[in-house]
Amino acid sequence: MIDFLLEIGSILLQLRTENKLTKSSVMVTSGANQAFVNLVLTLCDAGDSVVMFAPYYFNSYMSFQMTGVTDILIGASNPETLHPDVDWLEKVLQENNPIPKLVNVVNPGNPSGAFIPKPMLQRISDLCRDAGAWLVLTIPMSLWNDGVACRIPDGLHAQLLKVQDNIPICASIIGQHLALYSLEAVQNGSEKG
Ligand SMILES: Cc1ncc(COP(=O)(O)O)c(C=O)c1O
Repeated sequence: MIDFLLEIGSILLQLRTENKLTKSSVMVTSGANQAFVNLVLTLCDAGDSVVMFAPYYFNSYMSFQMTGVTDILIGASNPETLHPDVDWLEKVLQENNPIPKLVNVVNPGNPSGAFIPKPMLQRISDLCRDAGAWLVLTIPMSLWNDGVACRIPDGLHAQLLKVQDNIPICASIIGQHLALYSLEAVQNGSEKG
């Protein structure tokens, strides 16, 4: 099965080396929505509980609903900063039994537009790791998530490919050429500056 264009592969390899990314791989999808559905199908079973924060992205909520993941716990956001309530998340991850399978955080938030500061993201990541919950970080409107690629732990790649193979087989070639153009632009930009 053709995963993505060879030219994309070689740029990704270079970016991974430059950014010292290990134990992870990349899947090129037909947009962020498809990346999200791929992950839900791979990671969740019907009946699992999952976490999102209000205001959440409607399609992601629907992806859970449509796959039988109906126990969707919605965390609040700070009314002024619109940052997720991480204290609530800590409590949920420590006290719920079974613990939520997956936590979805969107940065910058859509529709809030709020940027989550790095220490807060780190805390969310640590809490999920300690509890054994998957953290799915959606980065909208970026090269990495919107219509181009999602970065995944190595161990998940084979399972995600099964989902990919059953839906679009591979992202559209025209979309991949656009991705290639964007990746080259990023590379040229970083070489210049
Ligand atoms: C959080 C989130 N998920 C999914 C999408 C949909 O992205 P795409 O059009 O690449 O499927 C968006 C679009 O902005 C988004 O913000």
